Amino acid sequence: MLKQLENSKNLYIETYGCQMNFSDSEIVVSVLKDEYIVVEQPQNADLILINTCSIRENAEQRVLKRLSELNTLKKKNPQLRIGMIGCMAERMKDDLFKTGKVDLVVGPDAYRDFPAILNETSDFPINVLLSEIETYDDIEPVRYDTNGISAFISIMRGCNNFCAYCVVPYTRGRERSRNPETILAEAEKLFADGYREITFLGQNVNSFHYDGVNFANLMEAASKINPLLRIRFATSHPKDLSDELLAVMARYNNICKSIHLPAQSGSDKILQLMNRKYTRAGYLNRIAHIRKYMPDCAISTDLIAGFSTETEDDHAETLSLMQTVEFDYAFMFKYSLREGTAAWKNMTDDVPESVKTQRLEEIIALQQELSHRSNKADVGKQFEVLIEGTSKRSPAHFYGRNSQNKVVVFPKGDRKIGEYVTIQIKKCTSATLMGEVVNS
Ligand code: 5AD
Ligand code: SF4
Repeated sequence: MLKQLENSKNLYIETYGCQMNFSDSEIVVSVLKDEYIVVEQPQNADLILINTCSIRENAEQRVLKRLSELNTLKKKNPQLRIGMIGCMAERMKDDLFKTGKVDLVVGPDAYRDFPAILNETSDFPINVLLSEIETYDDIEPVRYDTNGISAFISIMRGCNNFCAYCVVPYTRGRERSRNPETILAEAEKLFADGYREITFLGQNVNSFHYDGVNFANLMEAASKINPLLRIRFATSHPKDLSDELLAVMARYNNICKSIHLPAQSGSDKILQLMNRKYTRAGYLNRIAHIRKYMPDCAISTDLIAGFSTETEDDHAETLSLMQTVEFDYAFMFKYSLREGTAAWKNMTDDVPESVKTQRLEEIIALQQELSHRSNKADVGKQFEVLIEGTSKRSPAHFYGRNSQNKVVVFPKGDRKIGEYVTIQIKKCTSATLMGEVVNS
């Protein structure tokens, strides 16, 4: 909790989109901590910040709607300022002022400049400069909204991959990695403060490199901080998931056995148009290597339905890839054309909306079946679970996750949040495992 500062003003911050945005909001709160304290309700705020996502059009629509709602608060509180930060700030820049609903605009590489922007007297304070070096590595994030057990650590920013559909390389700029010494110091401090799980974040986390230190080296060093500190990471691009990393993951028990490896499509034609830089066979080769090093590793993915020129045959290849890999979990999306991307410049968004919807529904239905199958295979097994909190559905139950990132619910007994327990799985749904503590 933040301590109340004399004369401090109230900041309300709302975050949309990926984990990186949540991590960035912690940086912003840190940059503003001498002047502002975080409040939980927008009604009492002097400054409202919306940290935004541009990845799909509906994400942007949602934020614009919310922006209108928040603007009604100005009737009662004319001093209120509303700022747009994150990817929409970067993508829409000064066009945002034309909406009449935004008072300041700050892009993802300009958060350090916040105090100056807030003191600017211009009508439209804005900084959306992208940087080739900014990593915020000397800024200690303020963990204003956590369970005190798990925390994100951003280790690199930006993306150089330019997948044809994706706006991220334009909104977040070029890849750059953070100094590993500051990353490890942050992880050690979190452990000392009682945290038991850290997730290394980056748009393209496996391409981390800094002065001869690669991602596998960083993971190995982090895993040695303490055996009770779990390490996770997201997101991997299949082209960068090295055998060296898989070997390190296999060697250390506290590196979680879970990999998020976005496939996007099962069709070679579509993968090439998407500029993904791997083939279906190449992707399956990575899966085979994961399974060779870690037979118990969970594998999750991202899939897009209805990319430009996708036929029923291409779609069938995505479904068959899912069947072949048997993903444990997936994030599934309808293709959304984004201005400025290679697909926007060179391709047509030619799959009708109704067809995209139909294909997405088929993908979701299949994944539901695969997730359920994966969970059913865990019934009867025992897992070490890190307790994260009280189950939302039942005050008598805790929830936590196993190494494979599956949510496990069980009766509390005399256990405590932050402890590790061994749980025998008794039953499951497609989303959750349910079990009982094994008394050792
Ligand atoms: N349309 C639909 N989904 C997209 N993603 C990225 N860009 C788009 C887009 N234009 C998805 C990808 C990516 C995830 C974060 O979002 O699957 O892995
Ligand atoms: Fe977007 Fe591709 Fe970079 Fe992921 S790897 S952020 S999908 S461009």
